[in-house]
Amino acid sequence: MMTCCINPSILSADFVNLESELGRIRTADAVHVDVMDNSFVPNLTLGLPVVKRILAVSPVAVDIHLMIDDADRWAPAYAEAGASSVTFHAEAAAAPVRLARELRSNGAKAGMALRPATPVEPYLDMLPELDLLLIMTVEPGFGGQSFLEMTLPKIRRAADAVRGSGLSVAIQVDGGITEETIVRAAEAGATVFVAGSAVYGDADPEAAIARLRKAAAGA
Ligand code: DX5
Ligand code: ZN
Repeated sequence: MMTCCINPSILSADFVNLESELGRIRTADAVHVDVMDNSFVPNLTLGLPVVKRILAVSPVAVDIHLMIDDADRWAPAYAEAGASSVTFHAEAAAAPVRLARELRSNGAKAGMALRPATPVEPYLDMLPELDLLLIMTVEPGFGGQSFLEMTLPKIRRAADAVRGSGLSVAIQVDGGITEETIVRAAEAGATVFVAGSAVYGDADPEAAIARLRKAAAGA
């Protein structure tokens, strides 16, 4: 199975020491930054000013996950600020094709996320517009939740569609990723793995990254 990336989520890091927390995941492929607006999801995290500082000091690429309403309005600025990828929710975008194009033209990889109950089929024609498809494996909003097994068939269908298209769209999974669940997600075809508590909940985050990488590669 073609896996590539472990992206730790700083949602489980110490928000008052972000720079040193970033220094603990130098072996990660990117840092996953969860932007929440207390409207699209019932939680509030951080926004563009903090993301700009993360971009300035991060030793690894920055992967933005926007859990916000009116993504059409707010997402492009994150790409312009220099994020390597910007992912908006399909449920929160009025014009997802236009938005994905705008993200790319602002220099970021364009990502689109689906909540666990949102089917992938209506969006398959959009694959050429995307660099990344995020299949949420928990309801977005909080770290530390359990992986939803019901998302595995959707991961499989999305991965099959990507393979069939010949495009290189990453299939990212986010939520409840552990050394056990990462194996099933990788077998289903996911290629990029977000992990919050499994990385920052460990006394040695880089050792946790290495174990996740090994588990995914062995799937
Ligand atoms: C949840 C966030 C995730 C979260 C994952 O809405 O999108 O990125 O940090 O945390 P874990 O890995 O603990 O489930
Ligand atoms: Zn996330």
